[in-house]
Amino acid sequence: MSLPQKVKIVEVGPRDGLQNEKESVPAEVKIELVNRLTAAGFPNIEAASFVSPKWVPQMATSRDVMAGITRKPGVIYSALTPNMQGFEAALAAQADEVVIFGAASEAFSQRNINCSIAESIARFAPVAQAAKDHGLRLRASVSTAFGCPYQGDVPLAAVADVVARMRDLGCDEIDIADTIGVSTPRKTQAVMETAIGAFRIDGLSGHFHDTYGQALANIYASLELGIAIFHSSVSGLGGCPYAKGATGNVATEDVLYLMNGLGIETGIDLDAVVDAGQFISAFLGRKGASRAGSAILAKRAG
Ligand code: HMG
Ligand code: MG
Repeated sequence: MSLPQKVKIVEVGPRDGLQNEKESVPAEVKIELVNRLTAAGFPNIEAASFVSPKWVPQMATSRDVMAGITRKPGVIYSALTPNMQGFEAALAAQADEVVIFGAASEAFSQRNINCSIAESIARFAPVAQAAKDHGLRLRASVSTAFGCPYQGDVPLAAVADVVARMRDLGCDEIDIADTIGVSTPRKTQAVMETAIGAFRIDGLSGHFHDTYGQALANIYASLELGIAIFHSSVSGLGGCPYAKGATGNVATEDVLYLMNGLGIETGIDLDAVVDAGQFISAFLGRKGASRAGSAILAKRAG
């Protein structure tokens, strides 16, 4: 099968990237980051998360971030919403898309959102209905689809089951997430084929963390199946607070370098993303984790 000619890159750095930072990042810095990413041309930016501030303190500024960003018409600004309390906050903050997030492993569901998979689906049902009633896009994330930090292997049947439940809630898009970055290409294809069996392929996305350095290979393996939506984080920021040891998402700069090399259209300006990565890395006081970003900066420095 030929590769897709065009892919949608969802930039998750402001949410998945920053949520695990120990030091509080002020809302103004997050706003500047989102504005830079908007200017770089992303069609979709995950900008906020309306979760309990006791569980994820870094996301407590989400309301201010959503109020402060300069929105570009047509760009989707997404927010995580684990329950109706989160949905109400996302609605008030004028999110374009709400993201319900469940897991394919029971153990991770309990640790991350304090309930079983079945309970989580019951909690998501009114959120899904409210999203429809208010004309918001609805996305679902399926964590630990490729492996779980607590349970280890996750059966394909469990992935199929959760994807089908999310589909039945009326999701526009479903993310198949390698929360702890353990997958390798053949495994990725087996999991993605399972997801394709349960949901339309043009609504499926690959959300790969890069813990074992396999994320680009996993993206390529997904492209080979026709998956055309991927999540990435500027400068490779991130990690999940409830997946200890897991590193950030695959770096956006690396994904864009790959797509550019393959002649796959993204509509995103790689140089502007490198600048955004430099901005947030300078704030955090460390070198960015993107290999392509570092190479481009070295080349610029001559
Ligand atoms: P709970 O303690 O079971 O909730 O937490 P509760 O309903 O019993 O409420 C307890 C308290 O939380 C109450 O406050 C509520 O008001 C408050 P209190 O009366 O004690 O002062 N609360 C909230 N506050 C703000 N916003 C809300 C909200 N809901 C309740 N929406 C809950 C359940 C889901 C809230 C909690 O477990 C939680 O917030 N979990 C979030 C975990 C999280 O954000 N994880 C990271 C994101 S997921 C991820 O990164 C994976 C992903 O990237 C894909 C991948 O890589 O796998 C998406
Ligand atoms: Mg993630």
